[in-house]
Amino acid sequence: MKVISTVAGLQEELKEFHSAHKSVALVPTMGYLHEGHISLIDAARRDNEIVVLSDFVNPTQFGPNEDYESYPRDLERDREIAEKAGVDYLFAPSVEEMYGTDGGIQFAAGPATSILCGASRPGHFNGVLQIVTKLFHIVQPTNAYFGQKDAQQLALIEMLARDYFFPVTICSVPIVREEDGLAKSSRNVFLTSEERKEAPFIQQALLLAKQDFLQHQDKKQAIETAKEYIHANTSGRIDYIEVWSYPDLQEVQANTEKLIVAAAVYFSEVRLIDNILFSTE
Ligand code: PAJ
Repeated sequence: MKVISTVAGLQEELKEFHSAHKSVALVPTMGYLHEGHISLIDAARRDNEIVVLSDFVNPTQFGPNEDYESYPRDLERDREIAEKAGVDYLFAPSVEEMYGTDGGIQFAAGPATSILCGASRPGHFNGVLQIVTKLFHIVQPTNAYFGQKDAQQLALIEMLARDYFFPVTICSVPIVREEDGLAKSSRNVFLTSEERKEAPFIQQALLLAKQDFLQHQDKKQAIETAKEYIHANTSGRIDYIEVWSYPDLQEVQANTEKLIVAAAVYFSEVRLIDNILFSTE
């Protein structure tokens, strides 16, 4: 595995693979790798000749009062994990390298960002689409891998690729969870030991909401059930629990077949997100 920190260096490496029409996978991450990231790498490894993993904590997707500074970083640890998982190129650029020349071109994600994480993190998805666009242009991947853990992000990136004609296939990978059901996340290290015990109740609440919705087709009631459950079982503060159609993120209608129930919950030092995708059939 090669570790590369410059755009030109990575492009130079990839040139021969592109001209030989080899399949190149891109797995974008912000590092501090865990099994969720590894399952993306595994999927990429299975279907592609070359696997590029980007490891970059992207400043433009963090709000002014968010955890950009404290976001966990450990490149040496990531290097070992990525190498073991079979990554060919670990791309770990500096902020200067990725944003040094930016003269003010901004991204404006559309209406699908007025809900869920987009509503509570203004500008977040503009930054995500900006960095993913940069990465797509640099790597020119055949396939790019994203986790369902960040389901709204995945839906928006599918829209980005479709609407802006990126010649890339967006591949989605199911959520990887701890044994007790907590979705794996780089931010789980910020939970206190008490909160760590409570956090799996988020998934339980989402499962309850899903069951409730399938029984009664009543979105409000399903959300209420989940909220009560989280209040009763955790010390967390609910940011949102919502039900939408998926992946188009529209209001649920009588004929909606694919849905998402998603939650964001604040604990003392961290905000966790989780979701369940399900169908009514
Ligand atoms: P990050 O949070 O590091 O996640 C990188 C990728 O791993 C995302 O596609 C995310 O959905 C996936 N992932 C994280 N936890 C997962 C889990 N438990 N199961 C399955 N997949 C999981 O998402 C980002 O970084 C950034 O926004 C990024 C796309 C890299 C742009 O900066």
